[in-house]
Amino acid sequence: MIQSWRLDDSRQTLVLASRKDHLAEVVYWGPRLPDDEDLETLARAHAIDVTGGMLDANPELSLCPEATRSFPGQPGLVIRDASGQPFLPKFCFDSAEEDDTRLTLSFRDQSGVLRYRALFSIDPQTHVIEARAEIEATAPMHLHWLSAPVFPAPQASDEMIDFAGRWCGEFQMNRTAWSAGIRYRENRTGRTGHEHFPGLIVPCRGATNATGHAYGFHYGWSGGHRMIAEELPDGRRQVQFGHASRIETEAATRFATAPLYAMFSDDGLNGCAVAFQRHLRDRIVTFPDPARARPVHYNCWEAVYFDHNLPELKEIADRAADLGAERFVLDDGWFGDRDDDTTSLSDWEVDPRKYPEGLTPLIDHVHGLGMSFGIWFEPEMINEDSNVFRAHPDWALGGEDQILGRQQMALNMALPEVRDFLFDRIGKVLGDNDIDYIKWDHNRVLPMPDAAQTRGSYALIDQLRAAFPKVEIESCASGGGRIDFGILKRTHRVWLSDSNDAIERLRMQHNAALFLPMVVTGSHVGPRTCHTSGRTIDIRMRAWVAAQRHMGFEMDPRELTEDEVKVLTEVTAWWKDNRHWMAGADILRLDSSDPAVIAEQQLEQGGRQFVVFAGKAETSAQIAPRPLRLTRLSPDRYYRIELLNRGDAPALSRGDQAIKSEPLTLSGAYLMSHGLTLPWSFPETMWVVKGTLV
Ligand code: GLA
Repeated sequence: MIQSWRLDDSRQTLVLASRKDHLAEVVYWGPRLPDDEDLETLARAHAIDVTGGMLDANPELSLCPEATRSFPGQPGLVIRDASGQPFLPKFCFDSAEEDDTRLTLSFRDQSGVLRYRALFSIDPQTHVIEARAEIEATAPMHLHWLSAPVFPAPQASDEMIDFAGRWCGEFQMNRTAWSAGIRYRENRTGRTGHEHFPGLIVPCRGATNATGHAYGFHYGWSGGHRMIAEELPDGRRQVQFGHASRIETEAATRFATAPLYAMFSDDGLNGCAVAFQRHLRDRIVTFPDPARARPVHYNCWEAVYFDHNLPELKEIADRAADLGAERFVLDDGWFGDRDDDTTSLSDWEVDPRKYPEGLTPLIDHVHGLGMSFGIWFEPEMINEDSNVFRAHPDWALGGEDQILGRQQMALNMALPEVRDFLFDRIGKVLGDNDIDYIKWDHNRVLPMPDAAQTRGSYALIDQLRAAFPKVEIESCASGGGRIDFGILKRTHRVWLSDSNDAIERLRMQHNAALFLPMVVTGSHVGPRTCHTSGRTIDIRMRAWVAAQRHMGFEMDPRELTEDEVKVLTEVTAWWKDNRHWMAGADILRLDSSDPAVIAEQQLEQGGRQFVVFAGKAETSAQIAPRPLRLTRLSPDRYYRIELLNRGDAPALSRGDQAIKSEPLTLSGAYLMSHGLTLPWSFPETMWVVKGTLV
């Protein structure tokens, strides 16, 4: 007996089938199937043969592969009863609920102790499938591992792409060949982490950014995840995502995974990127005022660090406003005795030495300049040298002999009294002052992973947002250490990296665009000589790289030369003139023929206009720039192509290329197949091209 279900949008179909009342398995996931495809036949056609060296039938690669059904790979659930005995369920079909976009399948363990539920929904506009798993037990149990509903990975794929990183080096792409056994990524740091962004792209053979088939996955959880991409001995492949193993530290009767966001793309990696970008922007992030344009930020961290001084900050604010800033963010150093990073975390009261009249004089000044005011907190953290630690040493998470991180410990966010305290202290600062923004930091890993900690953080953010609904929040964790769709359900911007080095940013932004839209990705123009890389980069490059995302400044504006002020003011004005459509645009990664060039095209929805940012990260091997092929244009329509910063051409660019002197009208077909031939340029510079449909 076979039961089957399908979920469709215009480009993909997901078919699930259950045989003999067993747990269902994905029997098809790929391009949209005809409406009248017979699913039972399809499920039967899906079965693989049995030959020597195999069991007499093949166990299903089900939504939650079961050890008890001779599954030859990693099981989807590892659980023990209260006495510590492994519990090995055998699930049988219980019920199904479905409508056009949702499907919930329930299964019951034969012994009646456990229920397993897989919940799917498909978004017809964004093409994202959300999949979650839940377990319910009749008595408390210890969970070691629960996978979100398991998806198969395609056979016509040679490699998978996942992500690594470090402080100042987020979103590094790893390509790993499929081979027998497991690719296992597990993040046990207790936060999303720089090291293991919870995402996976599986390109099918020959896929590029712009063409081919690809599958995308992202696990929306901030407490550390585990990913298993496994090829079984019989050749089948499975993808599992869930919380890091054993991070549920208490026995309980109910466990749930975070949502796994997944999609099939029939137009390359960009099909995944656009789906993730739109889904995040249009379905997950909730802006207090969606109509408000993303304001240009000024953040004072790299200008003053802990050395806060009111007259100086006012002067900096004056200059930032002149450059075009619309929000001033007061970073670390305003509270307690915080003159360096050894002290005062959790003493969230304004430092009277630095601000004898409180924050009001600075905030009034900032408002007087037409900017709104934001402020830095690191709520989950505590220094031993703090009044709060002296009064409540038991609030810290982990043992006394733990290794500190940046001289600090984490607070135990599972304790209601800790959350109440933080709500009161942060609430008082927000209540007493006109503040519309928090930069919410998390600068160390946890002493041990614990899901209750993440749930505690989520609860505190939710409570603060309910009490202060106009306040936006930026998720920062030493840069990009907490970036995922779980935190972005509650926040509005991510600090992609502590690296303001425009060359490093160019690559990071390019890779992060596989998941993140422009509106949530903070990017600042840093100091002339970057504080974290020591590299000196021209203001044009720094400004344009920041203008690719949610733009801001972070240098001391008093260091800027007249030329730098002019360039930065102009680029900022350009960004403001264009942000209204760029905010809703798709970021498309271009397949550059020159590995030295990292290029993207931001295409307005509807396709009326676009901007291309072609960053030259290093010197090219060949002499002349290779044409850059654009994407997703209408082949038989014409576009007015204008090199916006043609004045930046160096003297060594000596030819009389037409694009250097005038806008050109070219067909989409030409731009996509031959590509745009840009002028010669120095390394560490950027060409910016505007395209408009004629
Ligand atoms: C972290 C952040 C920085 C800055 C400092 C302040 O490192 O990533 O941007 O806010 O903390 O201490």
